Amino acid sequence: MEKSLIVLAQTNNTSSLSPLDPEGHPPNLARTSESESGKLWMMGNERVAAQAPHSRPFKKRKRVKLKRSRGKRAECATISPLVKKYWLQRYHLFSRYDEGVKLDEEGWYSVTPEEIAIRHAERCRGRTVIDCFAGVGGNAIQFALLCHHVVAIDIDPQKIALAFHNAKIYGVEGRIDFIVGDFFQLAPSLKGDIVYLSPPWGGPSYKMIQQFNLDLLRPKDGYSVFQAAQRITPNIIMFLPRNMDLDQVEELSWLSSPPLHVEIEENYVDGNFKGITAYFSNVAWRQA
Ligand SMILES: C[S@@+](CC[C@H](N)C(=O)[O-])C[C@H]1O[C@@H](n2cnc3c(N)ncnc32)[C@H](O)[C@@H]1O
Repeated sequence: MEKSLIVLAQTNNTSSLSPLDPEGHPPNLARTSESESGKLWMMGNERVAAQAPHSRPFKKRKRVKLKRSRGKRAECATISPLVKKYWLQRYHLFSRYDEGVKLDEEGWYSVTPEEIAIRHAERCRGRTVIDCFAGVGGNAIQFALLCHHVVAIDIDPQKIALAFHNAKIYGVEGRIDFIVGDFFQLAPSLKGDIVYLSPPWGGPSYKMIQQFNLDLLRPKDGYSVFQAAQRITPNIIMFLPRNMDLDQVEELSWLSSPPLHVEIEENYVDGNFKGITAYFSNVAWRQA
């Protein structure tokens, strides 16, 4: 490995979260003692009483619910207007959001929704995947749940720290090698069965463009990204904007001789069109 690589999997220990306890209670809810009214649990500094059958559970339960929704309202109030729209979809992004998932601003608008990430991971089951633009871990976590091994790369150290933190919540941090680095510099030294590409789309304003094209991808155009990936393996998955010019995506397969198989899939969450996925070579199940 090159000197510039930082592998956080073994070293980072910043998260204070613990996994669900064997009874399935949230990690920040600790049982303290028993009382006449039932079991007592500590949630942060609040005491929450579980009710005995003879008491009035409906009223009490309502009070707990109120405390929780106050917490959510407080969280919502601290969120920037740009992020708010994405925060409202938080459980589509991470189903275990309430267990302490963290995102930075770019993470909020660029993370792959969990349902789509699961779909991508299903194609890679049992294999070693290189997630070249890992962000806050939306894809890397799902790969780790289904695949043999995952290498997660991001140029931004904060993203890798967040991805590590979020992977811990899902209990998969040990199955991912986290690397802070530039994918284009690292590509020649990487080995894996499948390369996963979800490069930046240039921020939420990509939606305003009538037809997105490969030149608009960041930090380099889509052809350069694809060619760097091809040096590792022809088995490539690329997650792209919904308004992408599909002819250009097919053209990517012609960069190889003979041309690679390519399959293009539309991805929806809750009926909303979120993006398209291009599967190349062995990860393509159908020819386009
Ligand atoms: C669309 S986001 C990835 C989101 C990720 N799939 C997820 O679900 O969390 C793109 C990421 O690429 C990273 N990035 C940009 N340039 C990079 C480079 N040259 N090498 C590696 N990562 C890069 C950004 O920091 C950003 O986190």
